[in-house]
Amino acid sequence: MSLPKIDPTSTVTWNKLQAHFQSVKEIQMKDLFAQDKERANKLTVQWEDFYVDYSKNRLTEETLSLLYQLAKEVKLDEAIQSFFSGEIINETENRAVLHTALRANKSDQICVDEKDIIPNITEVKKQIERFSAQIINGSKKGFTGKAFTDVVNIGIGGSDLGPSMVVGSLEYYKNHLNTHFVSNIDGDHVNEIIKKLNPETTLFVIVSKTFSTQETLTNANTIKDWFLSKNSNANQETVSKHFVAVSTNIEKAKNFGIDESNIFPIWDWVGGRFSLWSAVGLSISLSVGFENFTKLLLGANKMDAHFKSEAFDKNIPVILALISVWYNNFFNSETEAVIPYSQYLNRFSIYLQQSFMESNGKSVDRNGKPISYQTGSVIWGQPGTNSQHAFFQLIHQGTKLIPADFIGFTESLHGNNIHQDRLISNFIAQTEALLNGKTKEDVLKELEAQSLSSEEIKKLMSFKVFEGNKPTNTIFIKKLTPESLGKLIAMYEHKIFVQGIVWNIFSFDQFGVELGKQLAGKILKEVKNNTFVNHDASTLNLLQYYKNLT
Ligand code: F6P
Repeated sequence: MSLPKIDPTSTVTWNKLQAHFQSVKEIQMKDLFAQDKERANKLTVQWEDFYVDYSKNRLTEETLSLLYQLAKEVKLDEAIQSFFSGEIINETENRAVLHTALRANKSDQICVDEKDIIPNITEVKKQIERFSAQIINGSKKGFTGKAFTDVVNIGIGGSDLGPSMVVGSLEYYKNHLNTHFVSNIDGDHVNEIIKKLNPETTLFVIVSKTFSTQETLTNANTIKDWFLSKNSNANQETVSKHFVAVSTNIEKAKNFGIDESNIFPIWDWVGGRFSLWSAVGLSISLSVGFENFTKLLLGANKMDAHFKSEAFDKNIPVILALISVWYNNFFNSETEAVIPYSQYLNRFSIYLQQSFMESNGKSVDRNGKPISYQTGSVIWGQPGTNSQHAFFQLIHQGTKLIPADFIGFTESLHGNNIHQDRLISNFIAQTEALLNGKTKEDVLKELEAQSLSSEEIKKLMSFKVFEGNKPTNTIFIKKLTPESLGKLIAMYEHKIFVQGIVWNIFSFDQFGVELGKQLAGKILKEVKNNTFVNHDASTLNLLQYYKNLT
């Protein structure tokens, strides 16, 4: 069965939502809280170690009920079934989408082409477990007999962002191995990493689903050449001790010089941006140990079960997705901020940028027709409190409506309560400030207390007022652990899925990244041959400028 192909704007509920929007668009959240003392309790989901408060949004219970109806009308429940049961929901690439199978229970049965894929997944997990243990405990050694000290993940996009985000987020749980990530084709990136490495004690993990990505192969070859040049004892044979691969393309990995026993397979039903749960997460397992990697998967599995079975009005990913649709399609918000109040989650929004924007940055619907409504939002953000001193001014007093997710953890990992109380005070204060703003009356009182003249007060007044009424969701989690991180990542994955279903788009292909790649290939040949054909005047000038200076 394929995914439903319903234009959301053609539904009865969409029209109702449009009419409803006209009546609530000026609504003040402050008034909603004043009118209903139970609002915060009603619009909060507590699940496991998650407390998700979505009450600070410009919506009423009627809005929510219409959004749930919309989800029903576009047949979200059927789509969820199709997704989890391995149907070909990535129709444009003729593939199932089964990153959820990677974290399923061993006893589950999930079939692709009528073959249960769980035994293969379990086998590869054992391979990851064995290999990680041997590297971590030092029993597997480099070509001069020394234990490994460093791991370099060579990959890009989903083969870099997921692992690097998780390794960074779980730094507290890491072992003695130093993990590095090389992704950019910029030679300065790889050279800066190489500077820090000892070839005798470094393990290189080449991660490429296709094993044909220009950036990854260029970096891998540069590193291999450096490795071979560094020591007279290093040769093609020793390459196999130091280089391992994660790929669907076993032949190409073998041709690179990798021993077949050191190739960790993945499958075409794992999308790159959802692949950290597969062997693509090898550098995670190496950095924090297989047990922690398993806990990450377990967390995601729990979120999968929640998403699959919970009613829409208690279903965290569904609620967050529909609220986001409300702002995107009715308030015309273009962007959404994700602000984790944890420095560990420094790379979280960068990771989400790929998963959201590569998935839902589409303008053709599932019927192949151009879309007349907005789809994927621009996702961005940085950890608080740093971001408070960077871009929060615009969220508070700018002209744009930017819904924001605030993610925080009640416990700090190092147990420094002086910092933690201050961090969490900021975390909560910001959402309160965004909700309430600051009225003229408050500003007046504040300025009067500073004994300013009435002239000065008049001059400053309008600049000091905060409109407030800025929407936020608060995702308050007990503690940053591998398991809670797994839940959080899976929560956003499912938000992406729900939005893709509502917008009637295919979320699991990414043809939009191809054109630039093709042109870069053509231009590279021209740069080498110094002949440029078929370019616009601006591009031609740029190419000639480059050639003249190099
Ligand atoms: O950016 C496009 C993309 O195909 C991503 O979806 C993917 O994660 C990345 O390139 C890397 O691809 P590969 O793992 O095949 O090297």
